[in-house]
Amino acid sequence: MTSVYEGLRQKIQNNTATVGIIGLGYVGLPLAHALHGGGLRILGFDIDPRKIKALAEGRNYLEHLGPEMTRELASGGRFEATSDFDRLREPDVLIVCLPTPLGKHHEPDLSYLVRAGEQIGRTLRAGQLIALESTTYPGTTRGEFLDAILASRPGSAQGLECGRDFFLAFSPEREDPGRKSHSTRTIPKLVGGLDAQSTELAAMLYEKGVDQVVRVSSADVAEAAKLLENIFRCVNIAMVNEMKMILSAMDIDVWEVIGAASTKPFGFMPFYPGPGLGGHCIPIDPFYLTWKAKEVGRPTRFIELAGEINTSMPDYVVERTILALNEHKQAIKGARVLVLGLAYKPDIDDTRESPAFEVIEKLRHLGARVDYSDPHVPETMPVRKHDLGMRSVALTPESLAAYDACVLVTDHKAFDYESIARHARLVVDTRNALRAFASDMGGRLVKA
Ligand SMILES: NC(=O)c1ccc[n+]([C@@H]2O[C@H](COP(=O)([O-])OP(=O)(O)OC[C@H]3O[C@@H](n4cnc5c(N)ncnc54)[C@H](O)[C@@H]3O)[C@@H](O)[C@H]2O)c1
Repeated sequence: MTSVYEGLRQKIQNNTATVGIIGLGYVGLPLAHALHGGGLRILGFDIDPRKIKALAEGRNYLEHLGPEMTRELASGGRFEATSDFDRLREPDVLIVCLPTPLGKHHEPDLSYLVRAGEQIGRTLRAGQLIALESTTYPGTTRGEFLDAILASRPGSAQGLECGRDFFLAFSPEREDPGRKSHSTRTIPKLVGGLDAQSTELAAMLYEKGVDQVVRVSSADVAEAAKLLENIFRCVNIAMVNEMKMILSAMDIDVWEVIGAASTKPFGFMPFYPGPGLGGHCIPIDPFYLTWKAKEVGRPTRFIELAGEINTSMPDYVVERTILALNEHKQAIKGARVLVLGLAYKPDIDDTRESPAFEVIEKLRHLGARVDYSDPHVPETMPVRKHDLGMRSVALTPESLAAYDACVLVTDHKAFDYESIARHARLVVDTRNALRAFASDMGGRLVKA
């Protein structure tokens, strides 16, 4: 008789397996597309009815991914999206791509994962492989997530054993929205299962949509590797932000220094300073490790120092804006300030954790009258800590000239930098985006 493992292996191999993807956001949607491209049938799950409707119509609600992706999914006959979670029984593989945010006190919020585990448990059947992709601390997959699945199994599924009847693995997402040099297919994928069979099945599955799959010895290793990647970025960005403040006080341009250091062909990797961290990963994930490290009595000094420096950057930008206005004989109180860019990084519409919100709130607190302009974000939506209720201002020579200062937070390609350089009265540039116009702008350009 064919074992459950062998049966699922064959289904994956010959593309008769159906893959359920839970959470069709920045991570889940491109993954659905990559696995669909590998010939698999995809059943997407999301609680947001607008997303389900858009997908049925072939529309993409994630601007940076382009319309082609969802058109292909809608027209191929092998993709469907639903909010009916009773259908979790149907797929042979379930991949969880749900948010892992922080709670009020910077503690990990695993509520999405635990609820998903409970839902999966309620419809669990023999022959299912479950893969978790959401960033989290080591131990979550074999701990909280598996516990949730096991605890909610109905009586009929009580006998199902992980590693024999169903399979469980962790495979961290490494998506970088907006980056054109890589796609879900070309970014190598780490896979670590709770047992050898889970690792093998998950690796085979991902090989359908990803060029290179790297097997590691456990889910814990895969979870920790993802945190290491993000902490590496967080710490290096903090270091270069600190360098920026030191060098600026010495009248040395940090961007020129980074360019010079980057000519070394080994042992150096450039990181760039900015107005503070944004996005769903770098500002949040390190704190997952900080929290977990307490359990083993280990301090996380690097992470906390980096967090401190990075979260202070909006204050630095505001301070530089005050000083720049002062040079122009103006007070911040009553000044009209235009923030250029609300998204947390260029060429996307994602505003989660964007430092632009902090900059706006701090400027307002000092009495400035603040607007923003972002071609990708026509109006603000409520985010974790902010609900600004603002609309984007169109950039014209007249509108630019109407502000006492522009603070460039996000260097979108869509901005007309020449026009900004020509018409803005003063620009505080946190991204070195106006370097080409520095000599023309003279004292109207301040780097921050
Ligand atoms: N965005 C990135 O660049 C990125 C990169 C690497 C890792 N990650 C990690 O991947 C995970 C997912 O992040 P994301 O950016 O895709 O989040 P997202 O908010 O873009 O997507 C989550 C999706 O899940 C849906 N959802 C919420 N609750 C649900 C539920 N109970 N059942 C079904 N669907 C539900 C939401 O409607 C949304 O469509 C996080 O752990 C994140 O840290 C994100």
